[in-house]
Amino acid sequence: MKNARHVLRLAAILVVGVTSFIVVRRLLVPATFGEIGHYRAAAIEQIKSKPVRHAGADACVDCHSDVSDLKSTSKHAGIHCESCHGPGAAHAEDPDSADARPTRHLAQPRRLFCGACHSESISRPPFMRQVHLEIHYPKQPCTDCHQSHHPEVEK
Ligand code: HEC
Ligand code: HEC
Ligand code: HEC
Ligand code: HEC
Repeated sequence: MKNARHVLRLAAILVVGVTSFIVVRRLLVPATFGEIGHYRAAAIEQIKSKPVRHAGADACVDCHSDVSDLKSTSKHAGIHCESCHGPGAAHAEDPDSADARPTRHLAQPRRLFCGACHSESISRPPFMRQVHLEIHYPKQPCTDCHQSHHPEVEK
């Protein structure tokens, strides 16, 4: 027995280690984790309970057919209204409310708004036309020359 003491000590450390791992894991892993997949199942209900903020691609057309007609013949045809204007569900429900107007674009300078998609970057696909913001008419708002809903320059 005298010669086995070091083995017992090792076994004791192992037992303490495994037990504390199980206890800590139980404390840290959320209750519904793993019920459906490798994530917290309760997250689905939590996300479902949030109010819907986007109205969807078709919702804007009823009232703004002039804009959608213009846009549908342009290079921006594939870009949805809310990609640029931000979530519009509250505005579509109550168009008269000034608070709900989707005017996010108006607060964005050229680099952050048009430049978010068009500033030169080798990581962008080539079909997404790119300009160098420091060279391409700097300091002037993009919309002075490009109509947002039909941005092509007539040549
Ligand atoms: C039920 C009709 C209706 C729907 C649906 C609707 N709008 Fe509007 N929208 C309006 C009206 C009315 C105005 C105010 C026009 C004005 O004051 O000249 C407006 C104004 C706007 C403006 C201009 C805001 C400003 O301050 O100049 C934008 C941008 C806009 N809508 C975008 C959208 C988008 C994007 C959608 C879809 C998510 C949408 N609208 C859906 C009726 C609607
Ligand atoms: C590429 C970004 C972009 C997309 C996509 C876009 N808009 Fe706009 N929209 C703008 C900007 C920027 C303005 C500000 C006016 C300007 O200076 O061109 C604007 C202005 C407006 C206005 C104010 C009146 C006007 O015609 O200038 C309305 C209404 C509007 N947009 C509705 C829509 C609707 C509806 C859609 C979808 C069919 C849409 N927009 C798609 C960027 C966009
Ligand atoms: C959400 C991304 C996005 C935003 C924001 C956006 N664009 Fe675009 N734009 C595109 C894509 C994608 C194309 C190319 C579509 C194609 O060629 O099929 C395009 C096409 C264009 C073109 C046409 C280039 C040509 O081939 O003639 C111009 C000009 C342009 N955009 C200017 C603007 C301006 C100005 C703004 C800001 C008001 C803007 N864009 C905002 C994605 C965006
Ligand atoms: C002073 C007017 C003016 C301003 C301001 C301006 N552009 Fe242009 N843009 C043009 C002209 C003209 C062309 C076509 C000739 C060329 O490529 O220079 C063009 C072309 C483009 C193209 C197509 C490039 C290609 O390779 O086919 C894109 C994308 C574009 N502009 C985006 C923007 C963006 C984004 C802004 C704001 C950051 C902006 N433009 C500001 C006049 C302007």
